[in-house]
Amino acid sequence: MKIQIKNLSKTYKMKNKTIQALNNISYIFEGKNFYAIMGHSGSGKSTLIHCIGLLDQITEGEILLNNVPISTMSENEKAHIRATEIGFIFQSFYLNPKLKAYENVMLPMYLDKSINSTIRKSKSLLLLKELGLETRSEHYPKELSGGEQQRVAIARALVNNPSIILADEPTGNLDSDNEKYVLETLKQLANNGKCVIMVSHSDIVKQYANKILYMNNGKLGE
Ligand SMILES: Nc1ncnc2c1ncn2[C@@H]1O[C@H](COP(=O)(O)OP(=O)(O)OP(=O)(O)O)[C@@H](O)[C@H]1O
Ligand SMILES: [Mg+2]
Repeated sequence: MKIQIKNLSKTYKMKNKTIQALNNISYIFEGKNFYAIMGHSGSGKSTLIHCIGLLDQITEGEILLNNVPISTMSENEKAHIRATEIGFIFQSFYLNPKLKAYENVMLPMYLDKSINSTIRKSKSLLLLKELGLETRSEHYPKELSGGEQQRVAIARALVNNPSIILADEPTGNLDSDNEKYVLETLKQLANNGKCVIMVSHSDIVKQYANKILYMNNGKLGE
């Protein structure tokens, strides 16, 4: 599994100025690796994650998944890639407050009509169990700690078995114990073959990620 980024640039056009958030980035991300992207605020980290995750249009260049160009696909095709190949984890967990933990985890599975509800539920309960939340599956998000909510969000990101995990400051709202738990989980996912790309400000990630990348002014370097 690999994601190749070729001469990627992204500019934001404002009324009276353009901002070059990504400046001619080329890089190959591969499976079985845990990448940490560090860099100053405003250097373009989130923009890069959003572009790789097909959440944002690129201005120039190309993104290829296993040698297939994905950045030029139609919106429908992109939505399919997002749903099947990519798992997102964000700093704010974005759980649905009206759904129980296991129901939140089930959400991405609704895109695949071939899975029946019994299988959906048992799959999400199994993932919650693996993330140490066996006894919290019936809780609503407001009945969970921040660390537990992020683990529910991780289970949701994993439920369709994506090959790529994109995480934008996933530990930004967590205390250090929960941060370590989440980093250890991401590390295991990479060891098991997934391509994990995480943005972080925290130096502790250097103990978990095997590739540390730095962003500076829209450029990506090792
Ligand atoms: N929607 C937008 N419209 C215009 N400019 C934007 C937009 N989103 C981001 N930018 C600008 O693009 C640059 C890169 O932003 P980005 O959010 O990628 O930074 P970041 O590295 O993630 O920062 P942080 O560490 O603070 O999250 C910044 O100068 C920002 O102001
Ligand atoms: Mg950011």
